[in-house]
Amino acid sequence: MTTRAPVDAKAAVLVHSAPIAPDAVSVTGPDLSKVADVKSLLAAYQRIGFQATSLSNAVDIVQNMRRWRLSDEPLPDEPLEEIDHAARAATKCTIFLGFTSNLMSSGLREIIRFLVQHKHISAIVTTAGGIEEDFIKCLGKTYIADFSLDGADLRKKGLNRIGNLVVPNDNYCKFEDWVIPILDKMLEEQKASGEVWTPSKVIHRLGKEINHEESVYYWAYKNDIPVFCPALTDGSLGDMIYFHSYKSPGLIIDIVQDIRRLNDLSLKAKKAGMIILGGGVCKHQIANAMLFRNGADYAVYINTGQEFDGSDSGARPDEAVSWGKIKAGSQTVKHLKVYADATLVFPLLVAATFAQEIE
Ligand SMILES: NC(=O)c1ccc[n+]([C@@H]2O[C@H](COP(=O)([O-])OP(=O)(O)OC[C@H]3O[C@@H](n4cnc5c(N)ncnc54)[C@H](O)[C@@H]3O)[C@@H](O)[C@H]2O)c1
Repeated sequence: MTTRAPVDAKAAVLVHSAPIAPDAVSVTGPDLSKVADVKSLLAAYQRIGFQATSLSNAVDIVQNMRRWRLSDEPLPDEPLEEIDHAARAATKCTIFLGFTSNLMSSGLREIIRFLVQHKHISAIVTTAGGIEEDFIKCLGKTYIADFSLDGADLRKKGLNRIGNLVVPNDNYCKFEDWVIPILDKMLEEQKASGEVWTPSKVIHRLGKEINHEESVYYWAYKNDIPVFCPALTDGSLGDMIYFHSYKSPGLIIDIVQDIRRLNDLSLKAKKAGMIILGGGVCKHQIANAMLFRNGADYAVYINTGQEFDGSDSGARPDEAVSWGKIKAGSQTVKHLKVYADATLVFPLLVAATFAQEIE
């Protein structure tokens, strides 16, 4: 009877490691007695691992987007006296923000409004719910409820469920009362002056009409931040446009001018960053615009999508690199995906970046 472990088993279990790189970072959680604020908490996330590390890296990427100035780049090959140094020092990264509709229904609306009100972002792409839910919230409230509420029962009560939120159907009736007269005016202007409406012009006009400081698109109107919504009709706004087309036919909304406007914005940007919450149209429409400049310079995706099904929603940034939608070949990490519900992490990301002074 042997008293020693078999030599082969020992060798298999106790394999020796290669030397660890001197700059390797060890896993350590935050010391909460020393965490003063959200910025230092998220800096400490760096050493937690998993999605905490990704979120901390996302903070660094967003800070790089914010810090960048054209004057950081090598001077162009022109006579020195012809270079406008002040303009170079004032030229910032163009930041494109994308988000799914449900996030406007959620309390992320207020985080998005903060970004737009303070001109932290340059353009928005979202889906129809991401437009109308902002206006509807100026007319009536959305309530915290429960994922498990019974659909048939809610239908009887005229309550619409979005995850664990509910929106009274009356809010949509109020929306109809508010929006139809604006559509009437837009049609009159189209007939009188030949005005060609586009989704971004419609959103700009609605932002002006709502005239409400709680609204994201009121601030987008005030700050002249373009908002793109290629599928503007896939929501309550589309229902209103449908009804209006019977009441007063003729309103035309042109998507061609908007794709030019969006792609030109990307093409002309000296540096471009994407921050995209969720997937679908809001994610791909921004990434597609980046193709025209041979790729975004920075990208942060926050979404729950998975890539095994080949969906664009779930695709990691590296798939966009293969298409030329994100620039290849950077030494430092300039793009990443945080796998998370955006409602959990986006407030933290914004609190640790845009809500802080640029260092
Ligand atoms: N409140 C609403 O959700 C609402 C309202 C009206 C119309 N709609 C319409 O429904 C259609 C589909 O909506 P969509 O394209 O905006 O997105 P979606 O709701 O279909 O989501 C697309 C993907 O984004 C990711 N995602 C969604 N929520 C996320 C979150 N909280 N955190 C991280 N990732 C998340 C998931 O991978 C999801 O599969 C659109 O045409 C929209 O206009 C939605």
